[in-house]
Amino acid sequence: MTPDFWIERWQNGEIGFHQTSGNDLLPAHWPALGFAPEGAVLVPLCGKSLDMAWLAALGYRVVGVELSPLAVDDFFREQGVAADTRSVGPFTVRTAGPITIWCGDIFALPAEAVAGVTAVYDRAALVAFPPSLQARYVQTLRRLVPAAPMLLISLSYPDGQIAGPPFSTSLAQVTELFGRDYDIGICETRDGLAQSPNLTRRGVTALDEAAYVLRPKGG
Ligand SMILES: C[S@@+](CC[C@H](N)C(=O)[O-])C[C@H]1O[C@@H](n2cnc3c(N)ncnc32)[C@H](O)[C@@H]1O
Repeated sequence: MTPDFWIERWQNGEIGFHQTSGNDLLPAHWPALGFAPEGAVLVPLCGKSLDMAWLAALGYRVVGVELSPLAVDDFFREQGVAADTRSVGPFTVRTAGPITIWCGDIFALPAEAVAGVTAVYDRAALVAFPPSLQARYVQTLRRLVPAAPMLLISLSYPDGQIAGPPFSTSLAQVTELFGRDYDIGICETRDGLAQSPNLTRRGVTALDEAAYVLRPKGG
């Protein structure tokens, strides 16, 4: 997936992945995970996810990373807040209250962006990358936030049923990607088809949605 692919999807309003009420697996599992109540949560590939506002309401600082300036504009406008804007290298960094979004490519994110990050929330970020880029994404997280535990919301569907994104990512693939460096726990697996009308329309006939907790080994 090139950056242009995503920029155009936002320009064309093709954002079927966006959930107008946030993702219910976040409030269902985050509170019980015992992640540090202080600090910041990194939300990679954040889009305009309302989950960022939910995390901020819990008292976290939130650090989002998103390619599309439209998504970032929409997020702050829909929250009804004016964001301060600054430039850091190739990134436009926008902040309002506890939420900062770094607009640019996560693979270029500088270490200063993740200062104070104590946890990661990934919903539809890993699965946005094709298999050829997923390992690079995981390495990027390991480099930026090696000690941070993570709530990962992933999905899988029958092989080859649609061309991603999202890319089907099973427990076996999650284990291959993260298993060397993280202990992996399953919080919940469920049938996600009813909540994904856009994937049903595209031809997906079975969808497993899973929430995993990943804790860095030896942490
Ligand atoms: C499937 S959407 C998920 C958005 C959000 N996590 C949610 O739950 O609604 C993936 C998002 O990642 C962004 N994106 C894709 N590749 C990226 C990259 N390399 N760096 C930063 N953002 C990226 C896209 O623009 C898109 O908004």
